[in-house]
Amino acid sequence: MQDISYEKSFNLFLKNTNEKTIILKFINKNVKLDKKNSFLDIGGGDGTLASVIAYKVKDATIIEPNYFFVKKIKKIKNINVINDRWENVDLKKKFDFILAAYVVTYFSETKRKLLIKKMYKALNVGGKIIILSVDSEKGSWRKIHTFFYKLMNHKHKSSDKKLKKIVKNYCTKTKTFKTYVVTKNIFKMLSILEFDFLKYPNEFKKYKKNLAQFLSKYQNKDSSITLEMVHNAHIIIKNK
Ligand SMILES: C[S@@+](CC[C@H](N)C(=O)[O-])C[C@H]1O[C@@H](n2cnc3c(N)ncnc32)[C@H](O)[C@@H]1O
Repeated sequence: MQDISYEKSFNLFLKNTNEKTIILKFINKNVKLDKKNSFLDIGGGDGTLASVIAYKVKDATIIEPNYFFVKKIKKIKNINVINDRWENVDLKKKFDFILAAYVVTYFSETKRKLLIKKMYKALNVGGKIIILSVDSEKGSWRKIHTFFYKLMNHKHKSSDKKLKKIVKNYCTKTKTFKTYVVTKNIFKMLSILEFDFLKYPNEFKKYKKNLAQFLSKYQNKDSSITLEMVHNAHIIIKNK
């Protein structure tokens, strides 16, 4: 996937969702942060979440492989950024709060368990990790994804179910929350969906009409479209 097109489509998604506001509220409610805490954001994207959290903590670090995101992050005050993948970094320090928002799905299947263990190793005693993922079944956002994979005859393996099994190895509390993606019309929602379907450009073109028809079920009276996302938040605690 081209880093630049990923960054562009991600921006489009961000403009049309309340996701970041809801996540920040969720973090505020579930993690106590103060100026003694070190914060690590794995796969921090453009730094939207970290830029807010950074004000509450002693130091903030983002691990982000996409250079176009890193260029943006470098402009934010109070954040250290490492332009690499989580599997490649060797950090000398530990953290009190680690966030891994929608990144585990990008880890190779064979390395997922190990890379979560690496997060746990990087956590201070008394600290918390929050791993966020989109539920593999619930919510209309997921439903349109499943519909697209069916049209393509593609057996899509959701990372979310496996993640649920992996986090059971730790002291974990799982919570859920909902967010919404809202666009003015079907056409706009289709351009946002291209964000998640960047890997399948030809199939996206081929099935665009079918997707539009599917989306019409979620059309509001004013022609706007609302899709619901159901998120799982795995909160891992290190007690000793
Ligand atoms: C869906 S985005 C989420 C961004 C951000 N966490 C948020 O919630 O806004 C996933 C991010 O993970 C990054 N990423 C992908 N593979 C990664 C890896 N192996 N290690 C660290 N980050 C990775 C991508 O570049 C992208 O910025």
